[in-house]
Amino acid sequence: MQIIRARKKHIKELADIFKALDTPEYKLRENDIRNKLETHKIYIAKTGGECVAAIILDFFEEACEIFAIAVRTAHQGQGIGESLVMFAEKIAKKRKCYKMWCWSLDRYNVKDFYIKLGFEQEGFVKRIFFGRDFYIFGKPLR
Ligand SMILES: CC(C)(COP(=O)(O)OP(=O)(O)OC[C@H]1O[C@@H](n2cnc3c(N)ncnc32)[C@H](O)[C@@H]1OP(=O)(O)O)[C@@H](O)C(=O)NCCC(=O)NCCS
Repeated sequence: MQIIRARKKHIKELADIFKALDTPEYKLRENDIRNKLETHKIYIAKTGGECVAAIILDFFEEACEIFAIAVRTAHQGQGIGESLVMFAEKIAKKRKCYKMWCWSLDRYNVKDFYIKLGFEQEGFVKRIFFGRDFYIFGKPLR
């Protein structure tokens, strides 16, 4: 598996990968991703030449937010999500971030994924964005 920095030519594939995050209220579409390429760091995991997963990171005030992560269904459960988070963690440490963290919609049901990667549940916010429940997971880096 190879991890590369996403560029404009990847926008269509990224939008397709991030369909995994779709909810009735929230969708990351090509325009959103075009904007995120300007403001965030996006990395893609490739296997056999295919883009199979991606992560969007926001470095802000010495913290690293995982804004979004998704692995194509056929490639889930093979350690790719973990590799992307570990890759992000390395960058965050190099940038001397205090923390990795993310919001995670309750309905994604990925608490154990973050716990296995050393994150802790640091919050559970009820009926916030679009009235949905969200976890906040965090992992101190220094
Ligand atoms: C969540 C997601 C990114 C995980 O990626 P992945 O490549 O399938 O996960 P990995 O194979 O790297 O799993 C790492 C560990 O987390 C566990 N894990 C992965 N997904 C999990 C889930 N949904 N619930 C509980 N545990 C999970 C795995 O069992 C594995 O543990 P193990 O090492 O003990 O076997 C991926 O399943 C996905 O894209 N899901 C749909 C989109 C989504 O929900 N994104 C997260 C939004 S916050």
